Amino acid sequence: MRVILLIACLAVASCHEFKTIHSWNYVEFNFPNATIQNTLTANGEYVPENNMPLGVQVWEDKIFITVPRWKNGVASNLNYIAKDDPSRTPKLNPYPNFDTNYINTPDGIVSIFRVRIDDACGRLWGVDTGVNDILGNSTIVRPVRIIVIDLKTDKIIRIYPLKSTDQTSNSFFAESVVDSEPDNCDNSHLYISDLGGYGMVVYSWAKNDSWRITHNFFYFDPLSGNYNVSGYNFQWTDGLFGLALSLPRDDGYKTLYFHPMSSVTEFSVSTEVLQDSTLTKSSNYYAFHVEGDKGPFTQGPTSVIDIMTGINYFAQVLRNGIACWDTNHELNPSTFVLVAEDNTTLVFPNDLSIDRSTNMLYVLSDNLPQFLFSQYDMKKRNFFLTATSLESLSKICKRRNMNMQRRLPHIL
Ligand SMILES: *[C@@H]1O[C@H](CO)[C@@H](O)[C@H](O)[C@H]1NC(C)=O
Ligand SMILES: *[C@@H]1O[C@H](CO)[C@@H](O)[C@H](O)[C@H]1NC(C)=O
Ligand SMILES: *[C@@H]1O[C@H](CO)[C@@H](O)[C@H](O)[C@H]1NC(C)=O
Ligand SMILES: *[C@@H]1O[C@H](CO)[C@@H](O)[C@H](O)[C@H]1NC(C)=O
Ligand SMILES: *[C@@H]1O[C@H](CO)[C@@H](O)[C@H](O)[C@H]1NC(C)=O
Repeated sequence: MRVILLIACLAVASCHEFKTIHSWNYVEFNFPNATIQNTLTANGEYVPENNMPLGVQVWEDKIFITVPRWKNGVASNLNYIAKDDPSRTPKLNPYPNFDTNYINTPDGIVSIFRVRIDDACGRLWGVDTGVNDILGNSTIVRPVRIIVIDLKTDKIIRIYPLKSTDQTSNSFFAESVVDSEPDNCDNSHLYISDLGGYGMVVYSWAKNDSWRITHNFFYFDPLSGNYNVSGYNFQWTDGLFGLALSLPRDDGYKTLYFHPMSSVTEFSVSTEVLQDSTLTKSSNYYAFHVEGDKGPFTQGPTSVIDIMTGINYFAQVLRNGIACWDTNHELNPSTFVLVAEDNTTLVFPNDLSIDRSTNMLYVLSDNLPQFLFSQYDMKKRNFFLTATSLESLSKICKRRNMNMQRRLPHIL
């Protein structure tokens, strides 16, 4: 029986299933009281079908979920659910509270796309794009700001507006990765990808300062910008997007693996290059490297490295799935492995998060093209939070690479 199952698994491109933790037709919130809920609904400040979850990040007993203000009527941008919430469709709790997320609160949070957490330092980092109703009456409510929240006190501990020299008129910040040292939380950096301006912004916590890095590798590949997702055909020019950090190397710095969204190539750079605020090191073209080709239809937004194994996991929007690459091996289309696909629960996987305490990989999928080019059918399940054990996933990624290695002598 086992043998038959295994053969069946190998016959299709992938065999690993993600378990659906939660799913939603549309998103509801736990508001502070019924009065405010009724007021928001009556005023059009809460339009259920316009609230689309996009970013996910798991930390201790919470799962953070962002709802960017793509359209009007987003009730709260930064939210969480309890990790042990047993309901199929939990309501989102505004974080740190509703008032901070209310669009009319002076100095409140407007629209963060994805948050990142430095586990050891217990801080949540996000780049607030400051824009409301992007697809409708696009309004700049506040400048682009980095927001850092202390997860132990639930207090905003830093707000840093990006400098004008960090941005271009096309800048769009939807992804970042935080680089911190567990025993020296002051020495932290946030690397922010600018998918619209084809650049990277580096923020130093210690210096409370930022700088912008540019490189040819941050641009999109013109041959990789054609997408077919859930019946929609569209062209995107998104540049630098996914960022994933390695463990520290012998020199104390890490390798940042990165890719533009509309591209099938993976690149890398040492964090030593990024942390040089004089821009001397990053001005060297050869400080940035091509890791390899991922093969056709491998475009995607985020990726995340499991530091226990060195395996990099990738959201695959053209394949309704998740792929992996073991960074200990050379990257080519045969070492870039599709480990899961599901045409219902993994449609447009938009964010990934690793939960260290349970060793699970979480995926939030939201069928974004349906939202951008049409609207959701609220009678159907539109959003899925799925998860799987990294132990079993990593075995598939490693096994494929072992096969590759064994084949090498025959080729030679
Ligand atoms: C309901 O919540 C809102 C938002 O936090 C608050 O401003 C208001 O005072 C609350 N109203 C009542 C009756 O508690
Ligand atoms: C844009 O704003 C105008 C004026 O405030 C309003 O009439 C219109 O309904 C808004 N459109 C959208 C898509 O929200
Ligand atoms: C960091 O810089 C910003 C902008 O210059 C400033 O508003 C903020 O007060 C500074 N924060 C700290 C902790 O120095
Ligand atoms: C994408 O869809 C278009 C229009 O439906 C079709 O012509 C094209 O062949 C598709 N491309 C791919 C790569 O699937
Ligand atoms: C998902 O849909 C694609 C295209 O329609 C198809 O090629 C693929 O086999 C499907 N995958 C699964 C797991 O059903």
